[in-house]
Amino acid sequence: MGRAFARLLATQRKVFPFRIVGIHTLRHGSAFDQRGLPVEPEFGPRCGAVEEFLDRARPNIVIEITTLNPATGKPAISHIRAAFARSMHVITANKGPIAHAYASLIEEARRAVLEFRFESIVMDGAPVFNLVRNNLPGCKIRGFTGVVNSTTNVVIQALENGRTLQEGIEEAQRIGVAEADASYDIDGWDAAAKTAALANVLMDARLTPLDVDRRGIGRLTPEKLADLRKQGKKVRLVARARLVKDAVKLRVRSEVLDENDILAGVRGTSNILVLDTDLMGKVGTVELSPGVEQTAYGIFSDLVDIAKAL
Ligand SMILES: NC(=O)c1ccc[n+]([C@@H]2O[C@H](COP(=O)([O-])OP(=O)(O)OC[C@H]3O[C@@H](n4cnc5c(N)ncnc54)[C@H](OP(=O)(O)O)[C@@H]3O)[C@@H](O)[C@H]2O)c1
Repeated sequence: MGRAFARLLATQRKVFPFRIVGIHTLRHGSAFDQRGLPVEPEFGPRCGAVEEFLDRARPNIVIEITTLNPATGKPAISHIRAAFARSMHVITANKGPIAHAYASLIEEARRAVLEFRFESIVMDGAPVFNLVRNNLPGCKIRGFTGVVNSTTNVVIQALENGRTLQEGIEEAQRIGVAEADASYDIDGWDAAAKTAALANVLMDARLTPLDVDRRGIGRLTPEKLADLRKQGKKVRLVARARLVKDAVKLRVRSEVLDENDILAGVRGTSNILVLDTDLMGKVGTVELSPGVEQTAYGIFSDLVDIAKAL
């Protein structure tokens, strides 16, 4: 996805002259150039620590896009703190930090007068957090319902077409939507991380993916889905949040839905999120057949937004 973002920046350079001054990865190594790195840079030896990398690259804005760890949010959380400690604004596409440490990270950013953005952690560049921030002033979010994991949609569609779970996973990997460890998608961890992140940002829930009542799609079979289809039913991995006596309850389950249910209508990599608000009723976002370019756009939209404010 980092490459998709670098390609997008290259296509927009005339209007938005951002430069990538450094890249730090796990296995490829680290690369630096204050004049701006090309889309396919040459990597040198990996910096020993992220702090060393940041001190050498000296960016204004850090983009954190390391692999998701849904159980802890680490080491992304410490990468973000290292950037804040150097007065660098941060954009992340990694939902781990928002799912595990949103309240403290946003407070740290506020105290340091820094921007901290994460639009692409749920539904890529489709407006979710920006929708609430920019278009629903004064609204309280009481809950939400959504289909927010593309890999499970792709796998369910494969099963509906009589293929195996493994074939479905391979297809999701080919498209580039599966997590590095696809079991995080299948077991509902990615959706649970998104659910916790949404609830933390939109409902001040202060919960983690471990607080989500979670069950994945691992037990679905082509036969089960064919039977349900005859009854006019479909299955989707559904994320839900609701307020119960001032406590936020979170759930991720493969749910049997009526085939006319709006949630059952999303196919392939498409996602949907419906917010339940006090003043605007139910309102939401649909994202149709996104690819990795749309995740890259989510980061780009944060970047343009931050740059406007600098
Ligand atoms: N792909 C999507 O559609 C999508 C959508 C929304 C959000 N996201 C999120 O965006 C993030 C990146 O996704 P991706 O698909 O690009 O993942 P990916 O292909 O696994 O890439 C992760 C990158 O992070 C680097 N990395 C991992 N651990 C690191 C560490 N400790 N220090 C420095 N670099 C490290 C890896 O380096 P090496 O290449 O050297 O191994 C790799 O370049 C994930 O958190 C994911 O949940 C992805």
